[in-house]
Order: sequence, then structure tokens, then C-alpha cells
Amino acid sequence: MILSGKRILLIIGGGIAAYKCLDLIRRLRERGASVRCVMTQAAQEFVTPLSVGSLSADHVFTDLFDRRDEYDVGHVRLSREADLVVVAPATADLMAKLAAGLANDLASAVLLATDKKVLMAPAMNPHMWSHPATRRNLETLKGDGVRFVGPNRGEMAETGEAGEGRMAEPLEIVSAIEGMLDPGPKPLAGRVIVITSGPTHESIDPVRYIANRSSGKQGHAIAGALARLGAEVHLVSGPVAIPDPLGVATTHVQSAREMHDAVEALLPADAAIFVAAVADWRPKMESGEKMKKRAGEGAPTLPLVENPDILASVGRHKKRPRLVIGFAAETENLIEHARAKLAKKGADIIIANDVSHDSGLGPSGVMGGDHNLVRVVTADGVDEWEAMGKDEVAEKLAALVAERLTTPGHDKTTEKRK
Ligand code: CTP
Repeated sequence: MILSGKRILLIIGGGIAAYKCLDLIRRLRERGASVRCVMTQAAQEFVTPLSVGSLSADHVFTDLFDRRDEYDVGHVRLSREADLVVVAPATADLMAKLAAGLANDLASAVLLATDKKVLMAPAMNPHMWSHPATRRNLETLKGDGVRFVGPNRGEMAETGEAGEGRMAEPLEIVSAIEGMLDPGPKPLAGRVIVITSGPTHESIDPVRYIANRSSGKQGHAIAGALARLGAEVHLVSGPVAIPDPLGVATTHVQSAREMHDAVEALLPADAAIFVAAVADWRPKMESGEKMKKRAGEGAPTLPLVENPDILASVGRHKKRPRLVIGFAAETENLIEHARAKLAKKGADIIIANDVSHDSGLGPSGVMGGDHNLVRVVTADGVDEWEAMGKDEVAEKLAALVAERLTTPGHDKTTEKRK
């Protein structure tokens, strides 16, 4: 366990998202970390030091000049004793203070005094987040080496307004912390990997589209796992409801054609992985106006045309990556179909997903669900992975990519093809 025995100094800023810190503390302690908390004055308006102290099982530090605290610990020691300093919620005010180097309360003094890495989870109104002053502070802090998780898009608690500014969820913050504390091997350092994920939306008219049930969970998990192994990951994502994976450069697209163009623009790369459930067809014509029901005319027919096959075009591209991996969802003759796809699309590996109802995972087990039953099909044979969670599939696939890209022998297959 990455967090076992680690000491996290959690600075809680004053925002409604402060309540999520109670859950964050619990999650961190469940994983074996000890959590020591500093609360700003404003934070104490949202949650009490008593609840924070009960969950962290430790004294809560609130004042720069508290005689007992200063005598006991002091802001310098407080900041140095931790393995990592986490600010959640990081308010616009706390970001501005650290960007400017102010230290007029305990939280800002600790941030200025620390020699440890700092992770911020911003939370604020979308207008505050997009304000030029906050953008400037964000860039300054990034330049100073501060890392960020979130904010996510969504509805704001206070106003019902929607936009970017919601604090990342506790489990996202936990994985960001794990990423920063994990000194694990980085076999993919210096490698560039392009990956597609999610569904595509093919427009019928301004309000209607053709789509599918892909959630993007598997593709996003793979992107995150590759980033943790040190790769420079570029994710091209269709419309999904899940956050961008941490440490991954994400481009958002709607349609198959946009996804195709975005992937092309990201070449050359060392590897490309196609997890997206790209719509095979799109409406031949996209109506500029909303299509209306007309009495007596009945239902319209919707002629379709084929979309570009992104995997096949990259599989034969003049800038073809060394390693090209596709996915295949099959309900029957899994291996046979996957083999055919390998050849047809010019891929090195096809990850074949069994989406048949009797896979033991239930009808919704794969698409949109959290589990996957996969076979790894290459020209040399078939490797069967036992049923496992999408996160574990992601870890295993990332390890396989690392092995393929770092073992010289595997080059030969690509060399031959050229
Ligand atoms: N793919 C793609 N672009 C498309 C269609 C598919 O990049 N326009 C990629 C997918 O990301 C996936 C693989 O190709 O890696 C799936 O191939 P596809 O032929 O769509 O497979 P299935 O939908 O599983 O198969 P079929 O239509 O043959 O049943």
C-alpha cells in the first residue's frame, strides 16, 4: 500500500467543499496514512475543528500564534514533518497567497515554509476560477512545482450555477496523492502514447445525435495507468461524464471525424491504443435546424454513411507508431473475429472483450460497468486474463505496453512490416 505509514499534512481552506475533507481524511487513514490538519479561519465556518480532529485522531492546528502550538510544533516543523502537503479545498485566496508569497496566517505560513511537494485541490465559483487573477496564480504555482487535482465541472453548491470549479472527489484526491508519493518504476518515461476513449456522438440535428453506451471508464483508466508508468499520454475522449485522468493531456471531441483528426494531429507517437467505441456510421446529412414532426408525413428515414476507421488508418499510417493496440467487443467467435481484426486493421494486439450475456458479468457487465473479461490476441497467440476490474485491466495493459516498448526483440515485428 502506497500510503501506508505516510504522513499527510492537510490544509483545509474555507469553502463549502470543506465538508468533503472529512471523507478525504477517512479515506487516507483507511489506506494507512496519518493525517494532520491545519484549518484556516474561514474553514472553521464550514466544518468544526472537533469533527476534523475526531476523524484525524490528532490535534487540529488553527493559529499562527497559538502559544501552545508554536511551542509544541511551530509552522516550520509542521510543514517539514509531513511527506506531502495537501490543500483541499484550495480557495482562490489560498492560491493567491501562495502565488504572492504571503504568510499572514498558519496555512499560508506552512505553505511558504515547506520543503515538501504540495498538491492543491481547487474549489471555487466558476467565475472566480476563470478570473484572470486566478489563471495567473495557477500558472505561477504550476511554475513553482505545485501540483493540481481538479477542479471538475458540475453544479455549484451555493448557486445552482454549473461550470468548472467543483472540488475533485475525495477518491480522485487520494489517487493524486498516491501518484505523487509512489516512487514506483517509470519504465515508460520519455514515451509518447496516444489513446482514444469513450463514445462518439454523431449529430442528426442541433438537438439529436446517435451514440452508444460506452462510459470511457476503461480507456481513461488505461490512460491514467500509462501516465503513472511515466509515459507522456495524450487522450482523445468522446463525450463522457467522468473526469480527465490525472497527469494526462486530454482533448475532448464529439464525433468520429473529430476524433480521427485529433489523433492524426498527435502523431508521431511510440504507441497508440484505441479504446473508444467509435460510431461506425453517421447520418449522411446533418440538419441545420431541428427536424419537425409534420402531420401526415410519418417518420423520416435516416440515411447513414460510414465513419473513418481511426484504428485502421493509424495501423497503416506512414507515421505508424511502433505499437498499435485495438479493442474488439464480441459476443461470439471471439478469437476468430479478433484475429481477423488484427490483420484487417494493421494492429499488433487486439484486446478482445467478451460482451456476451453469459460471460458471468451480466448484460451490463462490460459496457458502462466496472468489469472486463479480456483476451489478448496477437499474431503469436492468445493470452486469457481472468475477469477483473477495469482498473486492473488498465494496470496489466500498461505493464504489457511497457514490456513491448522496452524489449528490443519486439521491434522486429514492426521492422518487418515496414
Ligand atoms: N475503431 C476506430 N474507428 C472506428 C471504429 C472502430 O478506431 N471508426 C476502433 C475501436 O476503438 C476499437 C476497434 O477499432 O479499437 C473496434 O473495431 P470495430 O470494427 O468497431 O469493432 P467492433 O465494433 O467490435 O466490431 P464489428 O463491427 O466488426 O462487430
